[in-house]
Order: sequence, then structure tokens, then C-alpha cells
Amino acid sequence: MEVTIGRTLLRLVQGDITQQEVEAIVNAANSELTGGGGVDGAIHRAGGPAIHEECMRIRREKGRLPAGQAVITTGGRLKARYVIHTVGPIWHGGGHGQDETLASAYRSSLELAENHGLRTVAFPSISTGAYGFPVERAARVALGAVRAFLSRPEGQALEEVRFVLFSGRDLEAYEQALRGMASPE
Ligand code: APR
Repeated sequence: MEVTIGRTLLRLVQGDITQQEVEAIVNAANSELTGGGGVDGAIHRAGGPAIHEECMRIRREKGRLPAGQAVITTGGRLKARYVIHTVGPIWHGGGHGQDETLASAYRSSLELAENHGLRTVAFPSISTGAYGFPVERAARVALGAVRAFLSRPEGQALEEVRFVLFSGRDLEAYEQALRGMASPE
């Protein structure tokens, strides 16, 4: 499924983010930037040690990465030239500003992409695995944050923002959220 927002194509696909041919893929990392399971583990495995080395350098220089913020490293052996590492919120029932932190993770990643002059970026479904965020709600927050970012008058640089959903169920949740947003309010 795809829609155009401003000049940017927003696409939802099912697949493995490590295989995407885009300039940057986004990693659902943890604040330590140490790597982990899920999409984080898959990206480090596919990209090789260069990503971990750069993450550790960032850790030494900047300390922990708070939830909602993002940093950029090489993509190592990935097809993508860069990996943008962001940290989503851990789900605690939704009442602790978790929607805003999740939106901030998407926004910070897009800002970083734009500041590096990148044109194509792929996101996984941040926080909906180990961090337990319900996927239907996360899909609304994620797509809302991306739409708001791309709708800014100055937000004209990105050609494509792609969501790469691992499961058919996740893809459906994102498609439904996108349909919900497209309908008149
Ligand atoms: N491509 C795309 N999506 C993937 C892939 C992949 N190769 N592998 C897993 N996913 C999906 C999961 O199915 C889930 O829907 O990514 C989504 C996010 O799940 P997690 O990777 O668990 O991320 P998150 O919930 O944000 O938890 C982050 O997990 O591995 C640790 O270091 C990471 O501590 C951090 C935490």
C-alpha cells in the first residue's frame, strides 16, 4: 500500500528490513546501543562489526541514548549506506507519555535523515516487539508522526519513507491505520 504526502512516497511493505535497498534503515535499538534481539540483532548480524564499533564510539562520546532520540552510523555490509539507531518507549500501559516518545523516535530519525541529505529511509515497527507496545496503537502514532513531519512546508527532501513490517498481521495493522488517516475527519 502507498500514498503520497507532499513530494514523499509513503510505502507499507512486508519483509526483512536488513534487505532493503534504501539509503538508511532505522534500527529499534536500546539506550545502551549494545545490540540485542529482534530487528536490532538482525541488523548487527547482517551489517557486521563496523556498526557495533561505531555504536560503542558514540556511547563513549555521548553516553546513553534516551528514548525518543536517534543517532546515525555506517550500514557496514548492508545494502543501506547508513543505519539510524533510535530507541522507542517500553510499553507501560500508555499513560506515561509513551505515544509522544514513540512519535519523537520517528521524528528524530527523519530529522537525522534529512540533515544527512538522504532521500530514502526504511523503518521497522519500533517498540512493538520486545518493548511490548500494542501494534495497532503504535501504527497510528508512527504514521501520524511521519505524516506530520512530511507535511511541513520545508519537508520536501525525502523521496520515500518505507515501513517494513515483519509479519502479515503487522502489515495489516499499519494498512488499517493508514486507511483511517486518509479518510475525511
Ligand atoms: N525486519 C523487519 N522487522 C523486524 C525484523 C526484521 N529483520 N526482525 C524483527 N522485526 C520486527 C518485530 O517483529 C517487531 O514487530 O520489529 C518489530 C520491533 O521489535 P523489536 O526488534 O523487539 O524492537 P522493540 O520492540 O523496539 O524492542 C527494542 O529489543 O532487541 C532489543 O536491543 C533491542 O532492547 C531493544 C529492544
